[in-house]
Amino acid sequence: MLKFNLIAAVCKNSGIGLNGDLPWCLKSEYEYFTLTTKRRRDTTKQNVVIMGRLTYFSIPVHERPLEERINVVLSSTLLPMDLPKNVLLFPNLEIAMKHLEYNIRKQIETVWIVGGSGVYKEAMASQRCHRLYITQIKQEFKCDVFFPPIPNCFKEIDPDPETPSGIQEEHGVQYEFKILQK
Ligand SMILES: NC(=O)c1ccc[n+]([C@@H]2O[C@H](COP(=O)([O-])OP(=O)(O)OC[C@H]3O[C@@H](n4cnc5c(N)ncnc54)[C@H](OP(=O)(O)O)[C@@H]3O)[C@@H](O)[C@H]2O)c1
Repeated sequence: MLKFNLIAAVCKNSGIGLNGDLPWCLKSEYEYFTLTTKRRRDTTKQNVVIMGRLTYFSIPVHERPLEERINVVLSSTLLPMDLPKNVLLFPNLEIAMKHLEYNIRKQIETVWIVGGSGVYKEAMASQRCHRLYITQIKQEFKCDVFFPPIPNCFKEIDPDPETPSGIQEEHGVQYEFKILQK
């Protein structure tokens, strides 16, 4: 079965978004997201990023689709013509995963779930979910979108060698990269 990892930055009050954007501006944290979702051992393969409609449109126009990754948008209201030709559109996560599994599995190294809230919830409940890459932001922010509760079956594991360990700090905001696995 084709599995996926999930990646999210979550603040102390469990928030992930505000007004269709990130509640914070943490450049290095965003670079970690980019590097992690791009990283692959086999450069003949590609990683996939799967996101909800609002997350896709929260990406600045000049930065979307996310480069060097296969972009998948989940929506039951968008039409293919609403998206660039190289962006795949599916009505839900399982249909998207089945398409990747049956049609382009050999081209794929890692599938990343990159938000938002409902997609994270569906992802964590799925048997396909392998690891959660969570940036714990150690501060509260005003938010209107929140990360769902993490099921008890996920336990923290030692960070992989590519993940910076210990407390990171940017503009006085502290955060830590954590990895949880089923
Ligand atoms: N901190 C982080 O790491 C992080 C990561 C991602 C996003 N964000 C932030 O989160 C916000 C966007 O997230 P959001 O939760 O509001 O929206 P979202 O999940 O990006 O988009 C919601 C839409 O996606 C479609 N969808 C397909 N499958 C779904 C499912 N299983 N559950 C829910 N929706 C599904 C639906 O589109 P249709 O209505 O068209 O069917 C739904 O209305 C923004 O503020 C963004 O900046 C933060």
